[in-house]
Amino acid sequence: MAQAPQSIDFDKIRKASDGSITGMLSSGFNEIVMNNPYFAAGGGLMLLGTGLAVARQGVMKGSGFLYRQMLVDLEIPSKDKSYLWFLEWMSRHKHRRSRHLSVETSVVTHDNGAITTNFSLVPGPGKHLIRYKGAFMLVNRERSGKMLDMTSGTPFETVTLTTLYRDRHLFNEMLRDAKNLAIKANEGKTVIFTSWGPEWRPFGQPRSKRLLGSVILDQGIAEDVVEDVRDFLTSGDWYHKRGIPYRRGYLLYGPPGSGKTSFIQALAGELDYNICILNLSENNLTDDRLNHLMNHIPNRSILLLEDVDAAFNKREQSAEQGYTSGVTFSGLLNALDGVASAEECITFMTTNHPERLDPALLRPGRVDYKVLIDNATEYQVRRMFLRFYEGEEELCNEFLAKYRKLALHHVSTAQLQGLFVYNKRDPKAAIEMVETLQNPNIAF
Ligand SMILES: Nc1ncnc2c1ncn2[C@@H]1O[C@H](COP(=O)(O)OP(=O)(O)OP(=O)(O)O)[C@@H](O)[C@H]1O
Ligand SMILES: [Mg+2]
Repeated sequence: MAQAPQSIDFDKIRKASDGSITGMLSSGFNEIVMNNPYFAAGGGLMLLGTGLAVARQGVMKGSGFLYRQMLVDLEIPSKDKSYLWFLEWMSRHKHRRSRHLSVETSVVTHDNGAITTNFSLVPGPGKHLIRYKGAFMLVNRERSGKMLDMTSGTPFETVTLTTLYRDRHLFNEMLRDAKNLAIKANEGKTVIFTSWGPEWRPFGQPRSKRLLGSVILDQGIAEDVVEDVRDFLTSGDWYHKRGIPYRRGYLLYGPPGSGKTSFIQALAGELDYNICILNLSENNLTDDRLNHLMNHIPNRSILLLEDVDAAFNKREQSAEQGYTSGVTFSGLLNALDGVASAEECITFMTTNHPERLDPALLRPGRVDYKVLIDNATEYQVRRMFLRFYEGEEELCNEFLAKYRKLALHHVSTAQLQGLFVYNKRDPKAAIEMVETLQNPNIAF
């Protein structure tokens, strides 16, 4: 007969249980588990593991709770305007600790052809610690993996700022500081925007404003245009009440180097506006892009369409040419008509070939003001001479006498500028060299 295993004493169990089932079970459990060294050790370990896991979770939950209660995050995506402002602000902020910097280089080509380069060291991707008004902030600049902003080809980025909950009001103050810094850097400057994919991006560093007086147009022209633009800018209510789109188009036409572009830049400076430049002869500008760009012009900007006649070579965008075909005439008209904005919209167009323009473009609503900016008149020659050689009235007369004798009619103001710049401090040498103006292509 098989005997019960010795280690389990069933009699004892029965006694202890007083015959009840629970008593039997509990004393059985005690007997099997507690008195068994293997079970006891395993159970202990299990309890310990469970305890630790629960504790860990508790700590994690607790820290998450604390994090939520005590810290705040602010995320600035690279799409946002304040993104660049913030990076620039941070690069100048004194109380910061960062070991990763990245460089942003801007190259500016000046009117005289000189090129200057600016390096600004901005915080690179990674974590940085800054102190702002007594509070610590953790700045984390992150690239989001392989995702590319398809429109600009740059990686998507975000900057996340973390600080204590009680300091959250500092975010606002800091962003305001960053914005003010950006505005201050642009004070007295004109920002030039160019198209970058379907969006407008500042081109190089903001330029110093060009003074209106530095562009010498024929008598009264500049004054009339400025007055017209000013009148337009103060007539918002008038347009809105009559339901007329609040926009005005200007066309400056004339030979190369007569000061069209320079005048528009000076005008923008005078009005405290920025300029969005679009070159319609640019190859990869399509109708769609043009339309999009014209409907997303930054505030307080003049839209400048250069070489507007370039759109007139083609009436349609053929499929084979596709991407590289440039803007079509109908595309330009649609874009001009489609600009629907509550803000004012000032469009300046320039061309060297007004005769190529289709009358459809010139109808009011698209072009409301046309003006010829021609080669230099005697009035301009005199004013330019005296601007370069102040007070030299006599020499100016001498210069003009020679100029008249040569019967020069097709001298551009750019040519005159070239001659005067070459003879910066020597008006007599300029007089000697008047003949050179006969050849418009001469390079000094
Ligand atoms: N009327 C002017 N007064 C002062 N400077 C002028 C004038 N015209 C031209 N210039 C000078 O000549 C250069 C070229 O001028 P700008 O680019 O304005 O000419 P433009 O009329 O736009 O020529 P294009 O038709 O080829 O675009 C500039 O450096 C500018 O300073
Ligand atoms: Mg020009």
